[in-house]
Amino acid sequence: MARILTGIQSTGAPHLGNLLGAIRPAIDLAHQDDNESFLFIADMHSLTQIKGGSELRENTYSVAAAWMAFGLDTDRTVFYRQSDVTEVTELAWYLNCFFPYQRLTLAHSFKDKSNRLEDVNSGLFSYPMLMAADILLYDAEYVPVGKDQLQHLEMTRDVASRFNHKMGDTFVVPKELIREDTQLIPGVDGGKMSKSKGNTINVFDDPKVLKKHINKNIITNATPLEDSKEPNGSVVYELYKYVASEADAKSLAAKLRAGGYGWGHAKKDLLEALVDGFAQERDEFNRLMSDRSTLDAELKKGAERARLVAQPVLERVRSKIGF
Ligand code: ADP
Ligand code: TRP
Repeated sequence: MARILTGIQSTGAPHLGNLLGAIRPAIDLAHQDDNESFLFIADMHSLTQIKGGSELRENTYSVAAAWMAFGLDTDRTVFYRQSDVTEVTELAWYLNCFFPYQRLTLAHSFKDKSNRLEDVNSGLFSYPMLMAADILLYDAEYVPVGKDQLQHLEMTRDVASRFNHKMGDTFVVPKELIREDTQLIPGVDGGKMSKSKGNTINVFDDPKVLKKHINKNIITNATPLEDSKEPNGSVVYELYKYVASEADAKSLAAKLRAGGYGWGHAKKDLLEALVDGFAQERDEFNRLMSDRSTLDAELKKGAERARLVAQPVLERVRSKIGF
């Protein structure tokens, strides 16, 4: 049995790219029989960017609701809010005291912003130590992350080894499980779907809103209705392939190639696949978002379970450092 842990940024309702590229595979991994998994919403990390209580709170709720709507089993997975287990900030401080300042100045999370030093708060600077604490506090063995998080994992291993070396064996040194982004879901403009590019599709949106968005924003070429159209490479068809069955995708490709079937028709097919294909998830998401007490209760249950694992680890650390 392996203990797997990962954190999710709480930067708002996940889009189609997040759902297919990260959330579904993570849930599959978490539910694998012999894994013990910890999954948390990294709202303390989000605080390095978001300064506004209601925005941060809403983001956390929508992330939690999305994971649960996509089938995360909160009995099999310890699912919690980072800020509910404040032990992590204590451990982060200890780790800060064991990690060289010079090494932190090399972190991408900080360097990306370092041309505008006035925008960098100290929290962003020590972000990697909070992330190391997230992992080490639970004796996690494997940490599934995207490639962009590799350096943070290296720093986690580094600080754990430095501590173990100076103070005697204390931490489990974790390994990363790099998620190769095999499926890169395109956005409505054809580029990689990303929050920062404003080209996302939110499957939880009301079908009417979704319809307007798709008709207005998905780019198509100006091939006349009666002409044959090449499906491959068109945004509508590329998106359709990800959300429809293989048979339906083949059928749409054939209709487009045959001519007499316009991009408007294809958009209607895509809308239908999104509306029908995610109907259950959308209903569940909306139900949870209008029932915060269930979300709070689930996250609280997760935090209590997380604490039971975290506290003895923290005690181990405190006794080593002489507290
Ligand atoms: P964004 O680019 O919208 O800010 P994040 O960087 O927060 O998204 O990504 C969260 C997770 O979702 C990551 O694991 C990332 O690999 C995955 N992801 C984001 N965009 C896509 C996409 N267009 N296709 C597939 N996976 C994606
Ligand atoms: N920094 C990660 C990201 O941007 C989120 C995160 C915070 C995390 N703590 C973690 C991921 C611990 C894995 C383990 O995606």
